[in-house]
Amino acid sequence: MSDTTTETRTPVLAAKRLVKTYGHVVGLDGVSLELYPGEVLAIIGDNGAGKTTLIKCLTGAEIPDEGELSLDGKPVHFRRPQDAREAGIETVYQSLAVSPALDVAANMYLGRELRRPGILGSTFRMLDTKTMRKNARAELTELGISTLQDVTVPIENLSGGQRQAVAVARAAAFGSKVVVLDEPTAALGVRESNQVLELIKRLRERGVPVILISHNMPHVFEVADRIHIQRLGKRAATITPQSHSMTDAVAIMTGAQVA
Ligand SMILES: Nc1ncnc2c1ncn2[C@@H]1O[C@H](COP(=O)(O)OP(=O)(O)OP(=O)(O)O)[C@@H](O)[C@H]1O
Ligand SMILES: [Mg+2]
Repeated sequence: MSDTTTETRTPVLAAKRLVKTYGHVVGLDGVSLELYPGEVLAIIGDNGAGKTTLIKCLTGAEIPDEGELSLDGKPVHFRRPQDAREAGIETVYQSLAVSPALDVAANMYLGRELRRPGILGSTFRMLDTKTMRKNARAELTELGISTLQDVTVPIENLSGGQRQAVAVARAAAFGSKVVVLDEPTAALGVRESNQVLELIKRLRERGVPVILISHNMPHVFEVADRIHIQRLGKRAATITPQSHSMTDAVAIMTGAQVA
């Protein structure tokens, strides 16, 4: 296992020797991963290499059989996705967790709606739509999502890229510590993909570290600071776009080359 970085900083999120088996199928075979402050870490690997399983173990969707997780150097044990979310890990799955009939602002506040001040909110549970819309607009503007100024538009009327942008903005809002994106550009066109890549860069500028799973090598090499390569349930290497070429990365993925 080669590692091109000699880091002394504490990772925001770290996994040590994770093992996850499904019956006799080994999903993860002792995988370690480190996500450092303010970086974009890509995870690449062939089909079945364990990328999704790894992400699931990091985000509480699966419980590893063995291994440890730590957040800011402190051990954590996520039993369900909600645990990871409460700890500040926001995940955007490929199948977007947005409600098509609700508008943009309502989607951004899904599950953490703001209530009106005083008795209207506390007793009558009335939503503070005005503030949510104002904040949603500010958030989208700050993230540079300029094609989407009307936050009262139902999600179902948006393009695929705009929906993805809302999902990413939702994850980026509310002081997230870590944003995890599983194949965010897989179903998108060139222009929409570029929009999502720009968003990822903005998150990094804000100091929010991102984990990005992608099969798209040009995208990975464009945005990633470091690249974690999964192969057959193990971490084959962690490289950087400076240390290795795309050809090298693919060769390591397939086992044709060691890092
Ligand atoms: N729920 C499950 N039950 C049984 N086997 C599983 C389950 N989830 C994953 N696996 C197996 O674990 C291994 C890793 O799967 P995983 O989904 O993590 O791969 P991946 O790298 O995400 O692949 P892809 O690029 O195709 O999405 C595979 O052999 C897969 O068949
Ligand atoms: Mg997968």
